[in-house]
Amino acid sequence: MSDDRDNILARYTGGARVNHWANAIILILLAISGLALFHPGLFFLTGLFGGGPETRAVHPWLGVAVLFTFGGLFVRFVRYNFWNRDDSKWMAHVGDVVNNRDEKLPEVGRYNAGQKLVFWGMSLSIIVLFVSGLVLWDTYFFQYTTIDQKRLAAVAHALAASGMIVIVIIHIYAAIWVRGTIRAMTRGSVTGGWAWRHHRKWLKEEVAKPGNDD
Ligand code: HEM
Repeated sequence: MSDDRDNILARYTGGARVNHWANAIILILLAISGLALFHPGLFFLTGLFGGGPETRAVHPWLGVAVLFTFGGLFVRFVRYNFWNRDDSKWMAHVGDVVNNRDEKLPEVGRYNAGQKLVFWGMSLSIIVLFVSGLVLWDTYFFQYTTIDQKRLAAVAHALAASGMIVIVIIHIYAAIWVRGTIRAMTRGSVTGGWAWRHHRKWLKEEVAKPGNDD
């Protein structure tokens, strides 16, 4: 949908934005509480959750909440994140991406290859974190796994958490670095210029939709 008066395109519904920000807030709390339990040097972070035992109790529940909030994002956006031939071409030109030589890139649809990799990286990390987290959740599941399985789960949990933190940092950096992107998730809309520059194929598809005769 576009508005020819001020050249603005809708990108996210209110529901999608609430879903995204609920997920982001809970995921950040999940990461802070996890880091607090991970290393003695970060134990002071347990103060944010009322102390050590309280952090240990709340952390897995935050994980359950993230599974649901991310699940909502997954269902909303998975159809736009399947890999296609243009994505491989875009990846081959990643040097032009970071050096702002946009004219050398193939036209991009709703998401570029980098965004799709972030999406799948987040999805995979959350699955590994959740499954390994259940194995480590002694309060309810101690008797279902062996000690060796719990050791393996602890390593997988730490690796997936490190991966997720790196991916989230890249995601936030990219959202700020590509000027005009943040408003997609705050106001739900983007400018025609932003879409022309970064997601031209998506812009053309949006303009061609029935009801858009401009
Ligand atoms: C902390 C956990 C976060 C998670 C798990 C997360 C997840 C996501 C997902 C799945 C999408 C849809 C992208 C796709 O389908 O490929 C998205 C879009 C977006 N996110 Fe986040 N996000 C997080 C935090 C943030 C933060 C802190 C910011 C702000 C700096 C942010 C800004 C955005 C923006 C602007 C978009 C829209 C990008 C576009 O439409 O091109 N996100 N996020």
